[in-house]
Amino acid sequence: LKIAVFASGRGSNFQSIIDNIKSGDIEAEIKILISDRQDSGALKRAEHEGVENVFINPSHFETKADYEKELIDLLKETSADLIVLAGYMRILSPLFVKEFKNQIINIHPSLLPAFKGLNAQKQAVDYGVKYSGCTVHFVDQGMDTGPIILQEVVEVKENDSADDLAARILKKEHKIYPEAVKLIAEGRVKIEGRKVRILKEE
Ligand code: GRF
Repeated sequence: LKIAVFASGRGSNFQSIIDNIKSGDIEAEIKILISDRQDSGALKRAEHEGVENVFINPSHFETKADYEKELIDLLKETSADLIVLAGYMRILSPLFVKEFKNQIINIHPSLLPAFKGLNAQKQAVDYGVKYSGCTVHFVDQGMDTGPIILQEVVEVKENDSADDLAARILKKEHKIYPEAVKLIAEGRVKIEGRKVRILKEE
């Protein structure tokens, strides 16, 4: 499995996938890390790990379509089978999503469909839910709406700040994101309409 990772920030989820590939747990190769932020931790991690990496500055393009065209060309060059969004803070256009149908996955720090969009952990704390968690899903044309691959539940404690909850959720993210990539690498993830079926290990 050839993977391209998109990341805008810290890159801890990117790191967790690298680590699971290095340990031999996932049979895949990260061909490229693409970032829309020059100062992202993800770029530094890629550099440190010897993963090809590139900063593509969206503001250098006249339109979003031009920016995405550059991404698409690059992805075709690298012949990536799977695009892993790991804290990539942009919404991909329907055109881009169509180009890579069922080949893009994302991780979101809530139990979807609750608390879509930004600051999901703060949304959960403010709402007063007792449990939240994280979700790995395929990306479709909506925001945080695609077929769900894996979820993990995390307890919200009474005095949690959004940061407390985010830290507890992040630990689970680092577990289920590599797990989902591994399942895909093993060909065990089947999309059936809105639902994802995970095939049993042979
Ligand atoms: C994670 O909380 C992820 O769920 C969200 O953005 C954050 C990225 O963190 N989509 P990192 O850059 O992987 O450390």
